[in-house]
Amino acid sequence: MAGAIAYISRDTDGLHWKKIFETAFGPIDFRTVKEGLGNTDDIEIALAWKPAPGLLATFKNLKMIVSLGMGVDHLLIDEKLPAGVPITRIMDDGLIGQMSEYAIFFALRHHRDIEKYAASQRAGTWKPEKFVDTIDRRIGVMGLGTIGQDTAGKFVALGVPTAGWSRTQKTLPGVETFHGADGLARFLARTDILVNVLPLTRETRGILDAKLFAALPKGAYVINMGRGGHVVDDDLLAALESEQISGAALDVFNTEPLPAGHAYWAHPRVQVTPHVAGSTNPRTASPGVVENIKRVRSGQPLLNTVDAKSGY
Ligand code: GLV
Repeated sequence: MAGAIAYISRDTDGLHWKKIFETAFGPIDFRTVKEGLGNTDDIEIALAWKPAPGLLATFKNLKMIVSLGMGVDHLLIDEKLPAGVPITRIMDDGLIGQMSEYAIFFALRHHRDIEKYAASQRAGTWKPEKFVDTIDRRIGVMGLGTIGQDTAGKFVALGVPTAGWSRTQKTLPGVETFHGADGLARFLARTDILVNVLPLTRETRGILDAKLFAALPKGAYVINMGRGGHVVDDDLLAALESEQISGAALDVFNTEPLPAGHAYWAHPRVQVTPHVAGSTNPRTASPGVVENIKRVRSGQPLLNTVDAKSGY
C-alpha cells in the first residue's frame, strides 16, 4: 500500500475525504488527528487546516502538503514548515461560488436597505427608504485571484459598476481594474461597497485601517471575507462610530471564534458570521486533490502550488 494520507484538522472528522480517496485509489491508509496519527513516518500526504505549529515538520517522509482552505496563511505562519515539501492548495469551484454568493447577498442587502426595512417592520412602520440607482452603488473587489475574479464577474452580470484592485495588474471583462499602491487611492475613491478577498500576507496584514477607510466615500459599506488579520479592528469600530463606514459584514476575525464581549457582536451595523462565507466542499474540491496525489506519486508537476514567498 502507498504511504498514508493524514487529515490534519480539528474542524471535521475527514470521513468524507476518506470515502473519496477510497473511491479513487481503493483501500488506503488514512489517518486523522482526531483518531491519532500513529507512526508519522508512514505519512506521505497531509491534508491540513490550521495544523498545530511544528507538527508537519515531524513527518519525516512527507511528500506533499495540501491546504484544505484556499487561503494558506494558516500554514505559512508555521515557522517550522518543512522547507522542501511542496504545498498545494485546494481549488474549489464550490467554495468560490459560495464566496461570491456571500458578497452578492450582503452587497444587495445593503443596497436595497433590507436591514432598515427589517427594523421598520419590527416597528410596524411603512417607510420607503431613499431610492439609490444601481449605477450609483459601485462595488470594489480587493484581491483578484480566482475568488475575486468570480465575485467581480458576477457583480458585472448584475449590472453593478465593478472595479477590482490587486497587487499586480490584471484585466477582467467589464471590470475597471487598479493595481499597486498607486492605484489603491483611486480604487477606493470610487468604491461604495468594498469586498475584501485578499490573501493574508506580510504586505496585506492590517490593510483595512483608518487610512483606507478614510479614502472611501463617506458611508461606504465593508464586506470582509478575506481574513480577520486584514482589519485593524479599532480603526473599523472608529469608522463605524463616525459613520465614515455605514456598516460591515464580517466573516473572519483576528481571533476566531470571535471572543465573547467583542464590540462586533452587539454592534447594530455589523453583521457577524462565523467564518462560513466559503466552506471547503469535498465534492468540488476533491478532483484536484486526487489528481495531485496521483501526480506526486508518479513524480509529475503538481497543480495549484503555493509560493511560500509571496504567501499565496
Ligand atoms: C477559508 O477560509 C479558506 O481559506 O478556504
